[in-house]
Amino acid sequence: MATKEIITKGNALLSKKCHLVTKFDKKLWEMLDNMKETLIASNGVGLAAPQLGIIRRVALVLDVTLEEEGKEPVIYELINPEIIEKSDETIIDVEGCLSVPGIYGKVERPAKAKVRAQDRNGKIYEVEGKEITARCFCHELDHLDGHLFTEKVIEFIYPEDDE
Ligand code: CO
Repeated sequence: MATKEIITKGNALLSKKCHLVTKFDKKLWEMLDNMKETLIASNGVGLAAPQLGIIRRVALVLDVTLEEEGKEPVIYELINPEIIEKSDETIIDVEGCLSVPGIYGKVERPAKAKVRAQDRNGKIYEVEGKEITARCFCHELDHLDGHLFTEKVIEFIYPEDDE
């Protein structure tokens, strides 16, 4: 495993529509492992393949809401993911992105979202997320279509620099 460089806003690769994954091979597993190491090293809750310059429909989401239920947080490996259900209820909260350092803004997202994806062996599964996890599913899936959260911000937040 190795950490990889995260590309930032302005890089044209972040605007590309990503390709479907068709091969569930060692190369994909290596990429997933590198993404996982990069996500953990950056203290993020989600990472999409295009953020490493890889134009494939692959994303990771760290589900921290499981901690509230006394469970260990899990990193979901989402390959060719689709959102199949969204709650009508939405939450407006502050969002950021590892590819848009230092910029935060309020974005409206569904309170709950269900995703259908493939795992690293190509097996289809479904996973439901709430609050920050639902937010993260939407944010990461947007990356796979070349969209950044900054396109959806209703109010930018400028944290006071108190250091
Ligand atoms: Co992002």
